[in-house]
Amino acid sequence: MTKRHRPDMRPLLAWYGAHQRDLPWRKNADPYRVWLSEVMLQQTTVPTVLGYFERFLARWPTIEGLARASQDEVLAQWAGLGYYARARKLHECAKLIADECNGRFPNTIEALEELPGIGPYTARAVAAIAFNVDAVPLDGNIERVTARLFAVTDPLPQAKPRLAALAQSLAAPGQCGDLAQALMDLGATICTPTKPDCPQCPIRQDCRAQAQGLAETLPAREKRAAKPQRFGVAFFAERKSDGAFLVRKRPEKGLLGGMLELPGTDWRAEPWTDKEAMAHAPSGNGWRKAGRAKHVFTHFALDLVVMSGYATRLSQGCFWAKPDQLADLALPTLMKKALRIVRP
Ligand code: ADE
Repeated sequence: MTKRHRPDMRPLLAWYGAHQRDLPWRKNADPYRVWLSEVMLQQTTVPTVLGYFERFLARWPTIEGLARASQDEVLAQWAGLGYYARARKLHECAKLIADECNGRFPNTIEALEELPGIGPYTARAVAAIAFNVDAVPLDGNIERVTARLFAVTDPLPQAKPRLAALAQSLAAPGQCGDLAQALMDLGATICTPTKPDCPQCPIRQDCRAQAQGLAETLPAREKRAAKPQRFGVAFFAERKSDGAFLVRKRPEKGLLGGMLELPGTDWRAEPWTDKEAMAHAPSGNGWRKAGRAKHVFTHFALDLVVMSGYATRLSQGCFWAKPDQLADLALPTLMKKALRIVRP
């Protein structure tokens, strides 16, 4: 049994004091801001989140305001951030906190984990950053820093519980909000996935991977299976008089739930023949193949052929999207790509 490794986090906290990234959610530790930023950052990078975070706060400065918004408004503001179940649950959570908790977030990990959309990561991040609870959340950056500090060579995802426990062992009582964000900043700027800048690292003396020359190889990862390919056809059906086009709302549950789309086929493993696809076209004429939009989702890659033509009437389940309304519509990135083909 090797001696228990206890890396000293004080140099990291000092480094964070001097070099922390200037990020808008760090202006204060208001739980609403911390929660909103952490939900946005769950599967999205910092540069992408910056603009969304500021726009959300400008529109809904308080959780009560967000609670009173309609789901469609929230989804429209979220459009482009992906993983839309996050936005639906964020809204549900806002309503619950506003209506049943006097607008106040609970301050324990256990109570936070009971809320919609808050899992082990977000509960720990909010608890640490907003309430200074002695918790260390495990996001991708902290996972990597921890794997390297302790030279954990077991592959992810199996190694995750062990890495969570080792990350928690780094807790700096009373300073966990700063510690969590210091570990995130270290992972984002120095302890990067490739070419980590070990000479600049404030905790290199305590890093076992660096001592063993392993830093760049960690964390180890089980080989991922290739993503399956799916195919679909979507129809841009334009109204000749004013350029409005048909859109419909996707079912609430499932992929892109509650978001808008161009009407079309479902997405399947085989490409569609023209004849098969046209059976799913809205009433219209002048159809031509405009191009294809490609998009990679978590579990598959999609190749979406976009057909363009003129609608002859309003199809069932659809409504008209006017060109000047696009910014207010909940169009996911896939559909924005499709629209760029027909409306460059
Ligand atoms: N990623 C997740 N949470 C973060 C935070 N608070 N600061 C920077 N990056 C993050």
